[in-house]
Amino acid sequence: MYDFRIAADDKRELYRQLIQAADALTDGEPDAVANMANISALLWESLPDLNWAGFYRNGGDELVLGPFQGRAACIRIPFGKGVCGAAAASQEPQCVEDVHAFPGHITCDSASRSELVVPIVHQGELIAVLDLDSPSLARFDAEDVAGCLELAQTLAPRLTLGRKSPGRELKKS
Ligand code: SME
Repeated sequence: MYDFRIAADDKRELYRQLIQAADALTDGEPDAVANMANISALLWESLPDLNWAGFYRNGGDELVLGPFQGRAACIRIPFGKGVCGAAAASQEPQCVEDVHAFPGHITCDSASRSELVVPIVHQGELIAVLDLDSPSLARFDAEDVAGCLELAQTLAPRLTLGRKSPGRELKKS
């Protein structure tokens, strides 16, 4: 059983604990989808005031929904569209105080009011984006951007989709 108790009033300390827990949780595990699933669960449990936390993967010419926590979400997002597509196309974090004021914002949950999306880049290639949504206006600040970027950079090698999953050999009948 995993029982990470992550709690701190100070955001920097919160992200320090979060990154340490995510590192421990993904250590030695080569399956990128399993790692994304556990990291989204960890973020969901540890960060207050979220209504969605998860990943969109680089599907070539668009983003494709990955592991997440929250309500069912749109599956494919073209690069350049919405907050996620803007983060993917620019490879820059997008911290949006009010999603209603963001041109082209894609509404997956009408409760969302602010959003933070950070690109996950490994060896110069976009692997995925990490997307956090909140029902509160201006929920995310520079410390959230820095914390999520550090998380993305630290864990990028374990989230690379090209990595082989340790599947079982199928026997031919
Ligand atoms: N709002 C995002 C779409 C993804 S959902 O928030 C989960 C966007 O504009 O890209």
